[in-house]
Amino acid sequence: MYKIAVIPGDGTGPEVIQEGLKVLKVTAEKFSFEYQTTFFDYGAKYYLQTGKTLEDEDIEKLKNFDAIYLGAIGSPEVRPGILEKGVLLKLRFSLDQYINLRPIKLYDERFCPIKGKVKEDIDFVVIRENSEGLYKGMGEFRQKGTPEEIAIQISYNTRKGVERCIRYAFEYTRRRNRRKTLTLCGKTNVLTFAWDLWQRVFDEVAREYPDIQTNYAHIDATCMWFVKSPEWFDVIVTDNMFGDIITDLGAILQGGMGIAAGGNINPQGVSMFEPIGGSAPKYTGKGAINPLAAINALGMMLEELGESSAAKAVEEAVIKVVRKKLKSLSAGKMGYSTFQVGDLVAEEINNS
Ligand code: IPM
Ligand code: MN
Repeated sequence: MYKIAVIPGDGTGPEVIQEGLKVLKVTAEKFSFEYQTTFFDYGAKYYLQTGKTLEDEDIEKLKNFDAIYLGAIGSPEVRPGILEKGVLLKLRFSLDQYINLRPIKLYDERFCPIKGKVKEDIDFVVIRENSEGLYKGMGEFRQKGTPEEIAIQISYNTRKGVERCIRYAFEYTRRRNRRKTLTLCGKTNVLTFAWDLWQRVFDEVAREYPDIQTNYAHIDATCMWFVKSPEWFDVIVTDNMFGDIITDLGAILQGGMGIAAGGNINPQGVSMFEPIGGSAPKYTGKGAINPLAAINALGMMLEELGESSAAKAVEEAVIKVVRKKLKSLSAGKMGYSTFQVGDLVAEEINNS
């Protein structure tokens, strides 16, 4: 019996989570596993009513679950940073979900913005360090509000933090068993403290994985290669900030935020799965948002829980719906409502 904590969150979060749970229900029946969901209402409404984001005791409660399924956090009614830091980043950090796993896979070339690229060209995974770097929140203002003001924001990288991420990436590349190529994406030519450490650890760990080919690309060049030759990539490992940036670019390569999912993974603890597109306030309540990113996040959750066949069935159903039915992956242009897309996926799983 899997215990799943559900945090629908803000904006379109609840709408897409509802479709994900619809798919979970049929998948559980089909693959004969049991689960139980518990809902938590963290997010904008809860904050506006209580003044609280997420307390330490909430984190303790969440530690009793097998996984967390999250919709979206962030609202125009709350000043930027409060919910992002107070809920989303607090979850990632307090639960030590030190890996942010973001697969980038094109399901149908109609939806790729790059001319001439086919499905086979875009199929790689970004492993984003998820607990340190610029996201650590270290820094200070000096002479704030004066013409002499200085704002310092520190990228914090520990040997342990870098090493566990890089080790995960090598293991993942081996398990994925596709092109067995791991690319370190950094900025060794300018950020000579952080990336010196990353490069040293990468080279050291690489010696333990003679079956894995290694590469290095600067972050700026990586952006260029994403567009020019995405087929070049298999698995990429990078820090928190660069990983944040390139996964939005990656999402567009695969057809948009409507399909892109991610897993915040603590291999020894509680992991959390989410569509990476955010709360999309302007589409809230319209039934127009694409639920496939949330459904893909559900698939990733099943994989992490050890239900590999179920995870595979979810992805295959999503692929079929994308190829056979959808006119677009973008909100309002799919040719179906949020609810109908959820039904289509559930149907595919039932018929598989
Ligand atoms: C993401 C988001 C978050 C991040 C924001 C909402 C804090 O952009 O998951 O990529 O920067 O990590
Ligand atoms: Mn982001």
